[in-house]
Amino acid sequence: MSDFTSEFWNFYVAGIVLIAIIGCAVFLWSQGGATYTIGKTTGHAWDETLEEYNNPLPKWWSWLFYITVVFSLGYLVYFPGLGKFPGIGGWTSHNQLEAEKQVAPNFEKYLSEDIPALAANSAALDSGKRLFQTYCIQCHATDGKGNNTKGFPNLTDNDWLYGGEPTQVEESIREGRNGVMTAHDYLETTVGAGTITDLANYVRSFTQSDFDRASANRGRTAYARDDVDCKTCHGVDLKGSLAQGEDYRALGAPNLTDDVWLYGSSQKTVEETITKGRVNQMPTWGKFLGEDKVHLLAAYVYSLSHK
Ligand code: HEC
Ligand code: HEC
Repeated sequence: MSDFTSEFWNFYVAGIVLIAIIGCAVFLWSQGGATYTIGKTTGHAWDETLEEYNNPLPKWWSWLFYITVVFSLGYLVYFPGLGKFPGIGGWTSHNQLEAEKQVAPNFEKYLSEDIPALAANSAALDSGKRLFQTYCIQCHATDGKGNNTKGFPNLTDNDWLYGGEPTQVEESIREGRNGVMTAHDYLETTVGAGTITDLANYVRSFTQSDFDRASANRGRTAYARDDVDCKTCHGVDLKGSLAQGEDYRALGAPNLTDDVWLYGSSQKTVEETITKGRVNQMPTWGKFLGEDKVHLLAAYVYSLSHK
């Protein structure tokens, strides 16, 4: 209300409010004073027989109305609402905003602490966990274990697509990630029919027991061919882009020799991945959450695999 630049608007608004309330009271009082004869009509008739009575208002109704008038005047004395008058109660919405600001946790103080230190700080981890429960669980699940058939990685196993160093985890959260595995259906023509089945058996031979040995052997030969490009991303040893060094890290191609899966380990699923490829996205959080919350989240995620 202090935004009013001239007193005119102050009195104008306050005046309208008071006139409206007092007007109600006066009108009510004027109606109560009249005398009536019960059962007498006003003399109006509609549709031939529909007549209008003029009975007094019920007493309880009048009193309820008087009470609301008194209440609204009392309210305007105590709370702000009458022009610039602040009310005798001292209530202001400004205080409320200030109070909320003070209750809003101060995460900035954690920015100067490094992630492993925060991962051992239970107050910081509590805040980090709360942020995680708000922003991350729809994909990574409440326990951070993700979903190994839908492409949401497990964040608790210390097995990383983009790196588990504190700064790398923080970078994943701040910048987001894009995992792209290209489609390889063409191998069925360029290398030969059955190649995808063979490659899938070869991949699965590292971790699964139910693979076809002859097919896996053909797969090993195919994998090594110059015109089969799996190596560029997953490496000659299939250990993934992280194992190939910093230049390859951003590719996020998983280690295929451990039993950790984004999409599942069945022959059918692995063939489907190779045939159609996969596109996977971790959203970018830096702008939305700010540096301090990203830092706390990184500490929380880091703590999940460093107990
Ligand atoms: C909409 C789904 C989604 C949400 C929400 C989400 N993520 Fe992710 N996240 C993913 C996907 C998908 C990947 C894997 C990306 C890939 O395969 O390239 C991923 C990857 C990651 C990685 C890298 C894992 C690794 O192995 O290198 C981290 C760390 C991570 N997320 C943390 C978080 C945090 C913290 C939040 C909450 C702020 C979050 N994510 C919210 C989908 C999501
Ligand atoms: C351009 C780089 C690239 C090439 C080439 C590539 N991949 Fe991938 N591959 C990826 C990425 C990135 C992912 C993870 C996708 C994601 O994050 O969802 C992946 C995922 C996979 C998966 C699923 C793993 C899981 O955990 O579910 C398999 C299996 C796989 N690749 C096998 C192969 C084979 C076999 C070839 C060669 C025919 C190949 N890839 C070629 C980048 C590549």
